[in-house]
Amino acid sequence: MNRGRASISLHLRRRRCLGTRAYSSQSHQPPPWRPAVVLDEWVERGVRPISLRQLTFFGRTLTESRLISSANYVRTELPTRLAHRLRDMQKLPYVVVSNPHISIVYELYYKAFEKFRTVPEIRTLEDNDHYCDILRETLKEHLTVIPNLAMGVLECQGLVKPDEMDRFMNTMLRARISRRVIAEQHLALTETFNSPWHFPQSVARTDLNADFVGEVFLKCNAKDVVEGCGKVAQELLRRSSGSTKIPAVRVQGHLTATFPYIIGHLEYIIGELLRNSIQAVIEKYHDSPNDPPPIEVLICEAPQHVILRISDQGGGVPRDVLPYLWSFSKGPRTQDRLENLGQVPTMAATMQELVVPMDRKPQNRETFQEGSLSSLSSRPPNLRLGMGLPMSRVYAEYWAGSLELHSLEGYGVDAFLQISKLGNKNEQVTARASVDAV
Ligand SMILES: Nc1ncnc2c1ncn2[C@@H]1O[C@H](COP(=O)(O)OP(=O)(O)O)[C@@H](O)[C@H]1O
Ligand SMILES: [Mg+2]
Repeated sequence: MNRGRASISLHLRRRRCLGTRAYSSQSHQPPPWRPAVVLDEWVERGVRPISLRQLTFFGRTLTESRLISSANYVRTELPTRLAHRLRDMQKLPYVVVSNPHISIVYELYYKAFEKFRTVPEIRTLEDNDHYCDILRETLKEHLTVIPNLAMGVLECQGLVKPDEMDRFMNTMLRARISRRVIAEQHLALTETFNSPWHFPQSVARTDLNADFVGEVFLKCNAKDVVEGCGKVAQELLRRSSGSTKIPAVRVQGHLTATFPYIIGHLEYIIGELLRNSIQAVIEKYHDSPNDPPPIEVLICEAPQHVILRISDQGGGVPRDVLPYLWSFSKGPRTQDRLENLGQVPTMAATMQELVVPMDRKPQNRETFQEGSLSSLSSRPPNLRLGMGLPMSRVYAEYWAGSLELHSLEGYGVDAFLQISKLGNKNEQVTARASVDAV
């Protein structure tokens, strides 16, 4: 893009950032404050990354003053992080930022930025309760972000380099996860603090044997998650395909391996992988007289990692899809994906996001987990959005893990999910442990 056009569009965008408030006054005086400048100030602030380990330790000794300082951390962190994303969006070519879907996201972010940056310091539990209401409301409102971003990115195909769009989408999603993690962790800590069994004044005010600290499940067991997600995916595809030949999901290896993780993130990744595998096998064996071969899941526990290999015999990734597997913005079948996305007005990227607006009872995690899995099954069946794999990778990498896929043409797929055991007590705290995206 030529420089002249870039600067015009930047100017337009800056004007737009001034917002209606600045120009709606009847006076011809300059507005008393300029959000564009305010945004500059916030963009200059660095973000304070947090690791899974920090999230856990922070919540382990939960006192009123800790809860208040958690609230203030979130209070300053959210507008800072949003400011960075707003600036990113301002730097996009005008054709992109003016796309209707992308501009919906821009407006939502700007509104949230304005709301969050003006929250006064939180000093009391009442202030915190009020702040939590704001957080919950915003989280709910932002469920439209992912489908809008995805549609915007697809519609801008051809206008911007695909790699650039993918980078943008990855950054947006990573940052979105990070904001939601810190917001949801604070909401969960507040719920714990307010729950009847929590006695802030007592010596044993924190249950050191608790399995959950906020949203972090300390003893996440890969086998249980695979089995739980497997059942849901099987049931979902049984209903949507009408087929009775549903492959089994077999789990082998280190079945007792546990690690701390935000379970909703793991369920999301494994759910997507299993859906893909089961779906591919059903399609391949649709007209075959033979029984469909099972999905084989191998769990391998190493000192630093837990690795899951999910193998299917569904025939492998179609050749025309393979080069675009990890891309949000390019590849075939764009029109189908756009139409399907149009049917998903809101989308929670993880199950725990869906749970947020509901009345959750942290003391009964069973209910939470069941609730989260049933939300997964309520996703429209068979809607191919083309986002499952790239989104799963964003989630996996967010907590210093990785996701790879090997397609054996004509035979099947091996997916490798590597999870970093960040919460392991013996682990050295390395720079890698601070994996938060900014
Ligand atoms: N295990 C698999 N076997 C065969 N094809 C697969 C497998 N996993 C993914 N694919 C192919 O990759 C495409 C993209 O997958 P994904 O990112 O999960 O999006 P979606 O499932 O919504 O299309 C799928 O539509 C399918 O064609
Ligand atoms: Mg999929």
